[in-house]
Amino acid sequence: MLKIITVDGPSGVGKGTLCQRLCDITGFHFLDSGAIYRSLAYGVMAQQLDADNELALNDIIALAASLPVNFRAGQIFYEQQDITLAIRNEDVAAIASKVAAIPAVRTALLQRQKAFAQAPGLVADGRDMGTVVFPQADLKLFLTASAKIRAERRVNQLKNQGVIANIDQIISDIEARDERDRNRSVAPLLPAEDAIVIDTSLLTIEQVVDNAVKIMQE
Ligand code: CDP
Repeated sequence: MLKIITVDGPSGVGKGTLCQRLCDITGFHFLDSGAIYRSLAYGVMAQQLDADNELALNDIIALAASLPVNFRAGQIFYEQQDITLAIRNEDVAAIASKVAAIPAVRTALLQRQKAFAQAPGLVADGRDMGTVVFPQADLKLFLTASAKIRAERRVNQLKNQGVIANIDQIISDIEARDERDRNRSVAPLLPAEDAIVIDTSLLTIEQVVDNAVKIMQE
């Protein structure tokens, strides 16, 4: 039987790592829904559409409806171009969160996300996986952590990629994005009523994974 696990929460909270580990343990498929919104942001930037301008709205919605993005063996392609790394920066993320606040964009991307639910199961990473995309999920987790801790984690992640980042800038970017994600009119960033909330502030990734596995086995 098809099983669905949703992992929602704000930026830099450790959802991606937890999801990868859960996929390794279960053999389930993985949906990185943030990467879909980031790919749309990439297309918006490539077409020089202005996400702050009402006049660009119809073009952005049309792009979302026919987004030329493909996931293949852990890589992300926009048309024929590998954008796996190109979409992992805060400029793309900021535009992603702007276009993600447009209701018609979310509707246009809904079916595409649902299609990832295939046997034996799915681990879905995002903001509204448990509330909107997979309300029928078997297990819903919602991760939280303070903005400061999330920013520190992001700085370390960037350091490992050879990028030196300014922590104050990262905290303010993360807070601006969280605020937009929380206050939008559609699919605001909130735990589903039946989600289990895990505060990861003081936990290592191993402890988060252990917690999640225990919950899965209950
Ligand atoms: O990696 P990080 O958690 O920072 O971001 P992400 O998951 O790649 O998502 C980038 C942006 O896409 C978020 O800030 C949200 O605005 C949006 N998003 C969304 O609205 N709904 C989702 N299910 C996933 C992402």
